[in-house]
Amino acid sequence: MADTPAVVEYSMTEVATHTTKESTWLVIKDMNDGDTPKVYDVSSYLNDHPGGAEVMMEVAGQDATNMFEDIGHSSDARTEMKKFQIGLLKLTDEEKAKIAQEAAKKAERASRQGGGLNPLAVLVLLLAISVGYYYSNQRS
Ligand code: HEM
Repeated sequence: MADTPAVVEYSMTEVATHTTKESTWLVIKDMNDGDTPKVYDVSSYLNDHPGGAEVMMEVAGQDATNMFEDIGHSSDARTEMKKFQIGLLKLTDEEKAKIAQEAAKKAERASRQGGGLNPLAVLVLLLAISVGYYYSNQRS
């Protein structure tokens, strides 16, 4: 498709060479996308970052997921970061399989939580019906 950009993959070794203010790359795993590690070039954002340039420089060329998540960035920050994504981290087939497996597990857990009947809710409902029935019989 013409409007689908080709996915560029960078190895961690290549990411690790971009540690200057002119070229600051980092890796952050995307929790909303099956924990896929994505590569970001934040050079143009250093001076605009509300948390400052210093913290970004500390993790330049590295996986910054833990630092990024520890701060508890807002959803606005997560939208903003999409502008700086330049590609994906190159993974081995094993790593890709592991991430896909984790994503499938996560999806299954979510569907189990959302769908189906909660046994406690069913019990409370049954109890409420029986109590209602009991009192309506008493009155008649
Ligand atoms: C592309 C990546 C990033 C983007 C777009 C981004 C964006 C933002 C934004 C918008 C805020 C303001 C608060 C909020 O809305 O959550 C913020 C705060 C902050 N960020 Fe980032 N950030 C990025 C990466 C990082 C990384 C990698 C670190 C740490 C190594 C970091 C550390 C901080 C800190 C310390 C604050 C200040 C929190 C505070 O003062 O309450 N950020 N960031």
